[in-house]
Amino acid sequence: MCGITARVATDDSLVPLLESLHNLEYRGYDSAGIAMSNGSGLNICKQEGEVADLEAELTDGRSGPIGIGHTRWSTHGPPSDSNAHPHTDCSGRVAVVHNGIIENYDSLKRSLLKAGHEFESETDTEIIPHLVESGLESGLDAEAAFREAVGQLEGSYAVAMIVAGDPMVYATRNGSPLVVGLGETANYLASDVPAFLEYTDRVIYLEDDDLLTLSANSHRITNSDGAQVSRPIETVDWDPEDAEKGSYDHYMLKEIHEQPVALRQTLHGRIEDGDVSLDGFPPGTFEDIERVQFVACGTSYHAGMYGEWLLNKDGVEANTYISSEYMTTPQPVDESTLVVGVTQSGETADTLEALRSARERGARTLALTNVMGSTAARTCDDALFIRAGPEIGVAATKTYSSQVATLVLLAERLVRDITGEPTADHEARLEALANLPEHVETVTEDGRAARISERWLGDAGHFFIGRGPAYSVALEAALKFKEITYEHAEGFAAGELKHGPLALVTEETPVFAIGTGAYRKRLQSNVREVKSRGAPVIAVAPRSDEELLDGASEYLAVPATHPDLVSILTNVQLQLVAYHAANAMNRAIDKPRNLAKSVTVE
Ligand code: F6R
Repeated sequence: MCGITARVATDDSLVPLLESLHNLEYRGYDSAGIAMSNGSGLNICKQEGEVADLEAELTDGRSGPIGIGHTRWSTHGPPSDSNAHPHTDCSGRVAVVHNGIIENYDSLKRSLLKAGHEFESETDTEIIPHLVESGLESGLDAEAAFREAVGQLEGSYAVAMIVAGDPMVYATRNGSPLVVGLGETANYLASDVPAFLEYTDRVIYLEDDDLLTLSANSHRITNSDGAQVSRPIETVDWDPEDAEKGSYDHYMLKEIHEQPVALRQTLHGRIEDGDVSLDGFPPGTFEDIERVQFVACGTSYHAGMYGEWLLNKDGVEANTYISSEYMTTPQPVDESTLVVGVTQSGETADTLEALRSARERGARTLALTNVMGSTAARTCDDALFIRAGPEIGVAATKTYSSQVATLVLLAERLVRDITGEPTADHEARLEALANLPEHVETVTEDGRAARISERWLGDAGHFFIGRGPAYSVALEAALKFKEITYEHAEGFAAGELKHGPLALVTEETPVFAIGTGAYRKRLQSNVREVKSRGAPVIAVAPRSDEELLDGASEYLAVPATHPDLVSILTNVQLQLVAYHAANAMNRAIDKPRNLAKSVTVE
């Protein structure tokens, strides 16, 4: 979604604000803008395009100690200079940036138009500065006018405002994230921590309906009645370098290569004496649970499918739902149902809505997330962190691997608590899990995916097939491939090919056959089906699966490990295939068209 940022300081805020906008571009990149306040008036610069285009446009005279900035992913009104944020009132004294959707903007805009306000954009956001303007004209001070304006809004939003001649930044949220960064000589506000991580790691996560008043050396948070509330100051344990690209061409490639480190962090201290040790989840935590439902979107949904497979395998009832579909037919739940929201950002609106619905209907909820302080972490009954470090590339890579590794740990705890027995083969599986970072390293160092990835570009389609846990990897690999190459790609359960998709298979459709070492014979017969239609087959499988590897036109081998974990390694090979294919096509890999990370609208 859109990225909001603000800085209030005693020195000049322009350069740090632009840096923070660059750091937030993964949230949206179709237009960008800033408003600077220099004590007297406001200076605004905004336009369609990326932050770099805005930067090139900025000349002298835009500086000031207080500023707000925005990088947009359009929902209301197409990308254009006039729809770019910040938006102002008629007088140009009030500037506002916004993330989210104002559902009642139509009726508010009609009343404002009747009262003589003039609008310049097609956005829902523009009503906010005009509402504040009305409050200021009626004699309210800036804080009271802001409070009155946001009190009229319905929908999900995070909003930041500055007013000419006023030394404060005002902000509030409802359903969209906002975090305050407390620095030595400046204070910050942003949609996400990477915006200001190089300046401070001391943060306050705002809660819904909090109204923040931020100056260079103070902050005050009040609730909707105006009463002061206290929110804890937390320390973020992310390294600023984690949020930088370093020597890599793209964040995605950096994050693919970071997976061994990310997985070490995920697993650190969580496997002890051949058993799982999860902080805050001692044995017995889930003994009242009888069934598990995973709710998630996109890549996280594919991780959820893997969790479902793990639990089903050991006799625990589990199902995975696409969050938005869960809301069309809310599944029956009761107090013995655990609903797990798999969401790296912890801010995906569809998943939050599904979790909220399950909780209201009596289920126990658990957030499996990467972001401490995220809405999912704070609103679920429990949170289990995947500890992957910040992920900036829009295409999820290291967070997927850390999600599935965390799901192996969680499955171990759930199966024991629910069935009273350990998972079958648990010692060998946990040992393989402990070795996973090393195995992933072998894959990231293997140059073969880079060498073969261009071979079939321009073909009619790329297909990915697998069985068991490799089915969810087939879906994930196809999603990654289409997301960043813009080429047609689809994933199928290998056994389903003959029920329809086989009609698409020709010499022009490479098929990636994902083997785990299990279900060998059946996968091989699926491979024969596509080969006999002339399709090139690329086997992605453990080295030990010689028959599959030898029978294919090409292969991507992964280290042999426990069959339940092989699919994680095959997925890393397929991340590399997608990356190198997209790179050869010169795609905007970290910012694929029409997409944004962290989708905070339903
Ligand atoms: C794809 C991708 C998305 C996200 C999805 C859910 O590469 O990143 O499909 O997985 O938008 O996001 P989270 O996990 O933040 O809920």
